[in-house]
Amino acid sequence: MRFAPVLAAFAMCLGAPALAEEVVSSPDGAISVTVDVNGEGRPFYRIDKGDEAVFTESRLGFLLTDQDKLERRLTVTGATRASHDETWEQPWGEQRFVRDHHNELTVRFEEDSDDKRRFGVTFRVFDDAVAFRYVFDDASVGETLRIAEELTEFNLAQNGTAWWIPGGEWNRYEYLYEETPIDAVSLAHTPLTFRMENGTHVAIHEAALVDFAGMWVKRTTGTNFRATLAPTGSSAARAVRDLPFATPWRTIRVSDDAAGLAESLVELNLNEPNKLGDVSWFEPHKYVGVWWSLHLDEESWGSGPRHGANTANVKRYIDFAAEHGFEGVLVEGWNLGWDGNWFFNGAEFSFTESYPDYDFEELARYAAEKGVPIVGHHETSGDVGNYESQLEAGLDLMAARGVKTIKSGYVTDACNLRYVHPDGRETRECTESQVMQRHHLKVVTEAAKREIAMNPHEPVKDTGLRRTYPNWVSREGARGMEFSAWGVPPNGPNHVPTMVFTRMLSGPMDYTPGIVSLEGRGQPLQMTMSRALAEYVLIYSPIQMVADLPEHYAEHPEPFQFIKDVPADWEESHVLEAEVGDYVVTARKDRNSEEWYLGGGTDADARDVSLALDFLDKGQTYRAEIYRDADTSHFEGPTRFDIAIEQIEVTAADSLDLRMAAGGGFAIRLIPTGG
Ligand code: NOJ
Ligand code: CA
Repeated sequence: MRFAPVLAAFAMCLGAPALAEEVVSSPDGAISVTVDVNGEGRPFYRIDKGDEAVFTESRLGFLLTDQDKLERRLTVTGATRASHDETWEQPWGEQRFVRDHHNELTVRFEEDSDDKRRFGVTFRVFDDAVAFRYVFDDASVGETLRIAEELTEFNLAQNGTAWWIPGGEWNRYEYLYEETPIDAVSLAHTPLTFRMENGTHVAIHEAALVDFAGMWVKRTTGTNFRATLAPTGSSAARAVRDLPFATPWRTIRVSDDAAGLAESLVELNLNEPNKLGDVSWFEPHKYVGVWWSLHLDEESWGSGPRHGANTANVKRYIDFAAEHGFEGVLVEGWNLGWDGNWFFNGAEFSFTESYPDYDFEELARYAAEKGVPIVGHHETSGDVGNYESQLEAGLDLMAARGVKTIKSGYVTDACNLRYVHPDGRETRECTESQVMQRHHLKVVTEAAKREIAMNPHEPVKDTGLRRTYPNWVSREGARGMEFSAWGVPPNGPNHVPTMVFTRMLSGPMDYTPGIVSLEGRGQPLQMTMSRALAEYVLIYSPIQMVADLPEHYAEHPEPFQFIKDVPADWEESHVLEAEVGDYVVTARKDRNSEEWYLGGGTDADARDVSLALDFLDKGQTYRAEIYRDADTSHFEGPTRFDIAIEQIEVTAADSLDLRMAAGGGFAIRLIPTGG
């Protein structure tokens, strides 16, 4: 039976189920979400903050490959509500205790058709974000849902500025950020960050991306955006799921300022709790490695006279790490497959066979003796099929050699990953395609069985799964330090102040900071020395690379001291001052001591900041070890090395006036010295 919405409204007057809009607000009452169907029976939601619209009417729905689209002729048949307030503890993180405080509304929709197809949408509203997901738990839509496209809209109420990288383009996430008017964005990856003209900051992302296609976001008209699911080579449908299931959460951070965007941990709150149990076998740490030398082209991944992964060279790195207190040595190029053009030879990689000049057994013994584990490396060159066929043997070998963390890699152009299905069929896949999400979780769970942590490069974006699988400790997923080595446009001074409010909203990044030589392959890095140090505070990761060559640290012993001191695990984190893309100042408290650390970074404009230290313990005095730009410092030219290092005594009543040079910043360690 079909009847037009106008008749449905008429029916309501006659006593049919109420069709009134449903509203749910954040615990503090500031953010509200309204859910309803419009006159054509199209479901939509709207977001307001205070008296101002954040999202105007934004539709919900799906295109399906084998059924009529699920988006019209719908009525609201019911709504249920819940509230939740819980504080949980991260095993490691940027913030030890995380509060999950939200109000929930589930709206049930039913189609006015012969099939009477039904589904629900669950909204959660936090003080700093809105999230929702579709729930398919009713056989009226069939046993299997084949989704051609998600029709979820994100319609911003105003124009403003957007910071974004293109979705689905060949270089994956490794682009410099675009800063454009909101109405000039095209197809973008998430997190996708906006500052509307009224000053409201918004970031669209997703949480709990499990067995579903990752979401890109496409501008349709004006400031209106729509979800775009990553395609797959496996089927015409971009996501295929048996019922019952729920989609990943679509998340919208909403804040009055940039700091509020960065401090939200909404995606973590939307993921399931730790499924691995005791994960104390992973400890946050800093690591060094045979790495920058490869990118400088001073050593090679492949065999020959310049082969970096030779036993004597790796022992030199182990000695260096042991001497300075670092807890891992990454070795790239240890395994067969790097000779020739490895970019195109993914099938050649062995994950069990070493080059003859790399004595893995002896190095494992030496590493154990020195207390510095080897960090394993699994580059796939995008041949996921080859990797999966050796995955268990490859992980077993690493476990037997005392490896606790593996960096993996998926170097190939976007949507060119070679995947082999259980029936032997080969397809080419995007990083965000559904089957690749299965692959990543397979690797992470297999690694967890062996008490190994994973750090994928060219990964899928983080959607908070580190809460559920805490051995998924870090990843790349943006333009890392390596670009500054290569002679291509290097990461400019605004890269990190932009990333903190874009890529970093999703989770930890293995950016590989610490290049104190401030020089790539014949080109200067675009930052000052104090900025190089600040990045250990600005960019969060529980594994931080100390990425430069040992001989370069020997040339800069004083700045190197900060890199030795700075922790990789935090009790709490706060962004003190920031504007997206311009500058950022972050304060973090060490998880294992009473010390605080401050990091600041600015774009190509010099900036003065005055920082109240009122976050410090009131009854304490602190020794502040300050690494700041000198009056002469500038990121361009030889004065990028200029740094002023000083110690002063401070208390919570003080404030620090600091000048950040163009492309500069500061790094500060605050050590309690007595009450
Ligand atoms: C790209 C990674 O980002 C980089 O760190 C690594 O050295 C190369 N792939 C080789 O695996
Ligand atoms: Ca990379």
